[in-house]
Amino acid sequence: MEGAALTRRSLLVGIGAVGGAGAMYAAMGALGLAPSGQDKDFAAPRPGDFSLRGKAAAKVVIIGAGVAGLTAAYELGKAGYDCTLLEARDRAGGRNLTLRGGDRLAELNGPAQDVKFGEGVYFNAGPGRIAPWMVTLDYCRELGIPIETFINNNGQALVHTNGQTIRARAARADMYGYVAELLAKATNVGALDKQIGKDDQERLLEFLRRFGDLGPKLGYEGSDRRGFIKYPALDGGTPIPAPGTLHAVLAAGTGRSITNDFGYEQSTPMLQPVGGMDAIVTKLKEAVGEDRIRTGVKVNKITNLADGVEVTWDGGSLKADYCIATLPPHLLAKIPHNLGDPVTAALETPIPVASGKIGLEYGRRWWELEDRIYGGVTETDLDITHIWYPSAGFHAERGVLVGYYNTDKNAELYGALTPEDRRRRALTQGRKIHGDKYGKDLLSSVSISWDRQEHIQGGWVRWPAIDSSFTLLQRPSGRVYFAGDWLTYLIAWQAGAMESARGAVTQLHQRVLQSP
Ligand code: ALA
Repeated sequence: MEGAALTRRSLLVGIGAVGGAGAMYAAMGALGLAPSGQDKDFAAPRPGDFSLRGKAAAKVVIIGAGVAGLTAAYELGKAGYDCTLLEARDRAGGRNLTLRGGDRLAELNGPAQDVKFGEGVYFNAGPGRIAPWMVTLDYCRELGIPIETFINNNGQALVHTNGQTIRARAARADMYGYVAELLAKATNVGALDKQIGKDDQERLLEFLRRFGDLGPKLGYEGSDRRGFIKYPALDGGTPIPAPGTLHAVLAAGTGRSITNDFGYEQSTPMLQPVGGMDAIVTKLKEAVGEDRIRTGVKVNKITNLADGVEVTWDGGSLKADYCIATLPPHLLAKIPHNLGDPVTAALETPIPVASGKIGLEYGRRWWELEDRIYGGVTETDLDITHIWYPSAGFHAERGVLVGYYNTDKNAELYGALTPEDRRRRALTQGRKIHGDKYGKDLLSSVSISWDRQEHIQGGWVRWPAIDSSFTLLQRPSGRVYFAGDWLTYLIAWQAGAMESARGAVTQLHQRVLQSP
């Protein structure tokens, strides 16, 4: 995964492939013209659902007040269900965490960090971007959360591979150019004669000319798509020197870094709530009712009963008609319960994935002033993997860069360091890309190692394979339902948590309506 796109496939499963090209093309054909968007069939429970059936909304205990738990409580609340959320941490939101000045970030086996950011500056330590088709945006709309563009693709951002740094636009121009040239050459020597007829070859060449900005002889000779050292104005400007040879471009290894936003999850435009991702948590909490959320409650037993569920913690217990358990599966697996061994085994199946980020606050937005980078992501083959530039607050006095966003081994490596050493290492790496200014004007920083966050202990999980464990947990066990991004094909997205919550709510509500 190092340096690679966080694609659905890489997020979801550690081994094996999901579907295949055949399935993909079939689905594309079938769904290409279908309305996009998520589960439009979802019908939120309504008070009126009960009126003709003589039923009443039930009492539900929800374990975990992350995005899945809050969404479940919000949807059930629409029909008057009596929900109580039990949250082990001292705040709701789970991985939806936006850090601002004055916050304190504790860590397992590590020192707490005081966030010293100035006014108006924030760092989305967890989720940071939303694709247009995700249900997350429906909640933003419904809850009145203003959104703005998250810049995921920026040709002006950089690609740093094998010790060299170039603009993303130059990396793309060169790869597209050379690939187009090769394919044009292959076409012209008849290598494609068996695959496509002459007319199609002409059409292909016509496309390749544009795709690669090829010269008259269908060779790639560089292109002003690569950008300029001095952009055209009164004179024609100074183009970036001609590209390296095909060999040099391939050897530089930039190719793997220019496809990150090709997928449907990462393609432009993406969006973010104005002022911080935690607006989603704030609004959900308000809608659910803060008095329904009990923080600092560490559940230590779940008992399924004939007529309800009992949930116990140190110093208390609560009985409800139903339970929705939304903790990360590897933590839920450790809570004693009477749901049977297959449930425990299923919960133990997904593997936690380490993930970390650092927020670097600067007193000068040099990336805008000097590098003309307004939002976007620099891809690297360094252990920092990505640098994110802020998508908002342009030209403000200060700004926060995401100095690393990494997973797996790289995240473990940074997680094992002290906050100071994480910052030092991130700065050393960033200087390789941006030079000395990367170390200047730094005001403060805060880093998160999600595997070291108490009661979360992972950035997300990965299933070794999507198997019967996954489907088992998508159904209730007795009166206990499960929900979380980990039970969807949208792992590591809030949309997954929300869709999963909707699934559990739908099943639970149907059951209540149909119960004798
Ligand atoms: N959803 C996560 C991201 O956008 C994986 O990086």
